[in-house]
Amino acid sequence: MFTQRLDNFLVQNKFCSKRSAKNFVLKNKVCVNGTIEKNYKAKINPEHDEIFVNEKKVENQKHIYLMMNKPIGYVCSTVSDRSKTVYELLENLKNKNQNKFEKLHTIGRLDKDTEGLLLFATDGNFSNFITRKENQIKKTYYVELENSVDKKNQLLYKEKFEKGIFLPEEKKAKSFTTLPAKLNWISENSCNLTIQEGKFHQVRRMFLAMNNKVSFLKRVAIGKLNLDESLQKGNYRKLTDEEKNLLIQE
Ligand code: URA
Repeated sequence: MFTQRLDNFLVQNKFCSKRSAKNFVLKNKVCVNGTIEKNYKAKINPEHDEIFVNEKKVENQKHIYLMMNKPIGYVCSTVSDRSKTVYELLENLKNKNQNKFEKLHTIGRLDKDTEGLLLFATDGNFSNFITRKENQIKKTYYVELENSVDKKNQLLYKEKFEKGIFLPEEKKAKSFTTLPAKLNWISENSCNLTIQEGKFHQVRRMFLAMNNKVSFLKRVAIGKLNLDESLQKGNYRKLTDEEKNLLIQE
């Protein structure tokens, strides 16, 4: 079940400041399901709970949650001088609802030359929940490699990734040791890799640390949510409630 702090709900849906939200609660002006709530940090369920401020119902603003099958060649930033952006693939939505479009952001990012599952939302709480380190929502990638790896070395990769592998500094990225990652070989040069973080170029850097090179990279799952393979590259659709729950029930 997706819960939210009462003060955050009020800020988001009453468009008031955090201080006013807190004051409404402290002055006993806020009712949750018919009872005065005195704790502004109380967790509420925005979809099911009824929230009143000064006896007026606060409507839960409807958010947009999307999955896209991101094609190669698009960057995940809102503006770019040199590349096409994933937001250009959402033009239909922009024309239908400019206000909501402006609040839409990607949940995490994929590199320009990575394809696959990319999520968007207008709901910052939802996005923070998914990207927050403590929630440990894993990401799974299908990987193809330049160099084939024989059975003996496949085991070596698997063990190294399972232990956590040291990645040296690279351009924008600091050095770090990855959390344990799970590697399943499909063939001598393809595998599925599940990682716990989402650091800059992480998957590519992990294979580079094994002296190999990723030639194709596709995100196939975030937590228990799989990419809908029936989505054509560049297409998107709304997430169902079940799919949203899959993500937040990790
Ligand atoms: N790891 C990468 O190297 N690139 C991505 O786009 C995602 C994970």
